[in-house]
Amino acid sequence: MSAARHPSSTLEIPQATAVPRHVAIIMDGNGRWARERRLPRFAGHRRGIEAVRTVVRACAERGVAYLTLFAFSSENWRRPPDEVALLMQLFLAALENEVAKLHRNGIRLKVIGDRSAFAPRIQRLIAEGEALTAANRGLTLTIAANYGGRWDILQALGRLAAADPAAVARGAVREEDLAPYLSTAYAPEPDLLIRTGGEQRISNFLLWQMAYTEFYFTDTLWPDFDAAALDAAFASYRRRERRFGRTSEQLEEARAAAAGTAA
Ligand code: IPE
Ligand code: IPE
Ligand code: MG
Repeated sequence: MSAARHPSSTLEIPQATAVPRHVAIIMDGNGRWARERRLPRFAGHRRGIEAVRTVVRACAERGVAYLTLFAFSSENWRRPPDEVALLMQLFLAALENEVAKLHRNGIRLKVIGDRSAFAPRIQRLIAEGEALTAANRGLTLTIAANYGGRWDILQALGRLAAADPAAVARGAVREEDLAPYLSTAYAPEPDLLIRTGGEQRISNFLLWQMAYTEFYFTDTLWPDFDAAALDAAFASYRRRERRFGRTSEQLEEARAAAAGTAA
């Protein structure tokens, strides 16, 4: 297995760009959006899909390379069976109705998470959607469905152990051994995490991958999140100083040195 194509934020210092290359979003607040309007939670999830369309388009326009959306966590099975069934129905309908449009727009679709729990029809549509869009060069849109950060680390370790049992048995697993088996190995680590809906927690999203991700929390409920809200998150991101363990003075010196060589 070849080394991961993307640098690790803990092994080397990644290049920071004005627009985040990889944006991850915890799309939260659909239920509260509906409740505020005395509508069933269902209505909030429906409107949430419209927000997904808006944000995918806005990210593509702004030059984001990777957008990863948390759609259903490994803990969301704990919800009432009716709501779980409805979310599955919406996922199925989105796969049926949106994939051709994504493909026309040059978007590459990926789905991460334990898909063995999904109905065979959903599994087939995921496989077909990924295959259809695999060669696209535009935005890579990843849907995290039945995804858990702990699951991801464990499935990676399991696959590494199958490929290289000796390294695991010796207790000599290095970061770069495990990284290629993570479900997001095709993407750089997220630069920016956005969580809508006011909660300030990770809820078992990309635990390994977010070692040096910038976090942005907003009270805006997901169905209300739009291009202007995305721009506010990006503006906040641009003001961050990403030190990756170094001091501000070191960053200053590096900037001065770069300006010197440029002059
Ligand atoms: C996020 O909205 C959608 C999923 C988790 C599937 P919620 O359904 O969690 O909305 P709130 O948090 O109850 O408002
Ligand atoms: C996180 O939202 C998962 C998704 C957005 C899919 P939740 O609403 O499930 O998170 P908790 O339970 O409030 O932490
Ligand atoms: Mg929620």
